[in-house]
Amino acid sequence: MIHDVIVVGSGAAGLTAALALAEKLKVLVLAKGELTGGSTSWAQGGIAAVLDAGDTFENHISDTMIAGAGLNRRETVEFVIERAPHAINRLVELGVPFNTEGEALHLTREGGHSHRRIVHVNDATGWAVEEALLRAAEANPNITLLPGRACIDLITGRHEAERYSGSGRVWGVYALDQTTGTVEAHTARATILATGGAGRVYQFSTAPRGATGDGIAMAWRAGARVSNMEMMQFHPTCLYNLDVKNFLITEAVRGEGGHLLNPRTGHRYMPDYDERAELAPRDIVARANDSEIKRDGLDFVHLDISHQPPEFVREHFPNIHEKLLGLGIDMTRQPIPVVPAQHYTCGGILIDLNGRTDLPGLYAAGECTESGLHGANRLASNSLLECFVFGEAAAADILARWDQFDAPPAVRAWDESRVTDSDEEVVIKQNWTEIRRFMWNYVGIVRTTKRLERAAHRIDLLTGEVEDYYGHFRVSTDLIELRNLLQCAQLIVRSALQRKESRGLHYTLDYPDLLAQAADTVLVP
Ligand code: FAD
Ligand code: SIN
Repeated sequence: MIHDVIVVGSGAAGLTAALALAEKLKVLVLAKGELTGGSTSWAQGGIAAVLDAGDTFENHISDTMIAGAGLNRRETVEFVIERAPHAINRLVELGVPFNTEGEALHLTREGGHSHRRIVHVNDATGWAVEEALLRAAEANPNITLLPGRACIDLITGRHEAERYSGSGRVWGVYALDQTTGTVEAHTARATILATGGAGRVYQFSTAPRGATGDGIAMAWRAGARVSNMEMMQFHPTCLYNLDVKNFLITEAVRGEGGHLLNPRTGHRYMPDYDERAELAPRDIVARANDSEIKRDGLDFVHLDISHQPPEFVREHFPNIHEKLLGLGIDMTRQPIPVVPAQHYTCGGILIDLNGRTDLPGLYAAGECTESGLHGANRLASNSLLECFVFGEAAAADILARWDQFDAPPAVRAWDESRVTDSDEEVVIKQNWTEIRRFMWNYVGIVRTTKRLERAAHRIDLLTGEVEDYYGHFRVSTDLIELRNLLQCAQLIVRSALQRKESRGLHYTLDYPDLLAQAADTVLVP
């Protein structure tokens, strides 16, 4: 079957784009592993939208810009926030069973929001959204869903069969069939990257296993600019458990009255750090948790909502309550041990309001992008929203300009003539573990130039080793991901070294102050 558009990624951004495109075009959706494997399925808290009578777009815009420490592009912030009510209506039409209160949608609250603004499906919003989007995509005859495909690189003018074109025009992707191990070339007139974030570059992350920054690395290698990669968001409250390493405790627990306590003294410390206490933006709460842990040599801090009535807690957080009970923690009676963990990639492939990247024929949407919405720190529950708005925007631009997109040329098949099967898989595991560990220790919540330079040095050493390995051995999913993780680590560290101030998520002891002018860190390949 010939497809008009390829969408890489089956999360909120990819499926939204695919559904909008499929009204007129044939769409191929590729996903690494299972279709539900992205972060979307894991989202807990909800989706931010101005729906309350006392709330305004201006309030939401202002909260977003305050959280983003002024680095946001106001035009993008307005663009997204004004489209939020439409996005929610569309999800309701698709059958997402949002919680209601009487006739209206129930709105919960999260850090950095001045109003109740978060629509949700209990404490498992993402799963309900993913299910509804997938149901619609599966029922659509214009959409072909192809899971089990790990895309390796973009096909550009350099891969045309008949001639070499350095134009950077993107024609699709080379993808590894994860079952057979063969590499396929998928081509189309337009390609959308919706590959999610790069959270797994850190040792501790709330993100799923596949969040290895593949789209960001692929776009960069093909010649697209990336921006603000130093802005890595750490969530303040990931469950501390030696067996269950990346279970998030939603910010809505604090939104519904949860307190952060020092487990040694029982002291509620957030009011000492910020007048908004537990509802300060995430960067502030994560740094406060980190500071309590480091100062007192703790393993974790406590998140306590046991002062609320047990039925209130069970009703608001049924999934978290059940999960914790299985681990021997009754959150209606006891505090929850929590630590900060990497959570969201604010930077990414630079896009405009139409989801266009620098490369002709290449669009991007969702967490793999830097659209200007989040600035130096994402406001809670603004990211699913960004996926819906930019998924639709990219689709709308492709549909509007469809007659300008040429049919793809014949392209060269993937060349495996000079590679053999790997003889030392251990190299991949060793390097993967090493990257994640030094990124956590040297490029984490609190940074210094010396630590960043140490990380840069490690990255230089590993780059030679990984590229050598990539050049000699047949690709596997692990190798593709390792190469991309390392690429993203390099982009993060380079960006962090360029920023000579502390702004939002980038906090460095060597430049503790804010510069007068907010400027994006844009890396040019
Ligand atoms: P994803 O949903 O991550 O999907 C990425 C897709 O790309 C997947 O299908 C994956 O298989 C595919 N892919 C990746 N690499 C390749 C490749 N090489 N080849 C082929 N396919 C590939 N945000 C909110 O707004 N509200 C919340 O309440 C919220 N809670 C969260 C809770 C958790 C635990 C986490 C981790 C995140 C949360 N977020 C939340 C953030 C939000 O979930 C994500 O930003 C958002 O879902 C990203 O959607 P996406 O479509 O961009 O990517
Ligand atoms: C959460 O539920 O705390 C996550 C919300 C988000 O990441 O936006």
